[in-house]
Amino acid sequence: MMLSEASITLMKEMTARYPEKRSGILPALTIAYEEVGHVNPDIYREIAAAIDVPMVEVAEAATFYTMFPKEPVGTYLIQVCHNISCALMGADSLVEYLEEKLGIKKGDTTPDNLFTLISVECLGSCSTAPMMQINQDFYENLTRAKVDQILEDLREKAKAQA
Ligand code: FES
Repeated sequence: MMLSEASITLMKEMTARYPEKRSGILPALTIAYEEVGHVNPDIYREIAAAIDVPMVEVAEAATFYTMFPKEPVGTYLIQVCHNISCALMGADSLVEYLEEKLGIKKGDTTPDNLFTLISVECLGSCSTAPMMQINQDFYENLTRAKVDQILEDLREKAKAQA
């Protein structure tokens, strides 16, 4: 079992609020991601059993949404939007800058396991392009100076929590 009893209980409670059980899939995936840090077929199976839906529906939802990493990621998952507005406002050079700053390529995790860098489809914040999401937070109207500050702040935060 990868999920705690507390998570299973919470998933059941959330699902009970909806007229259809399948509506509980996204909340359940969110709960699982928050607990484990990623999702995978073992977790899909546990969710399906917990909220009584077919496992294939859990897997379909998980694979459709990029917000649920399918393998372990760093403490901070950096998702840079590469869709049209962000692309026009320099998303590619933003990714290159992050690769340079972090010393990794897109798709990789830093050796200290602090940052994972990926690019994703539109995150719905097109008017503040270029933007990225790190864990649950949006960072918008990005510049290189802002990126420097964000990474520094996150490193400090990680140190304080160590
Ligand atoms: S295009 Fe980047 S948030 Fe929509």
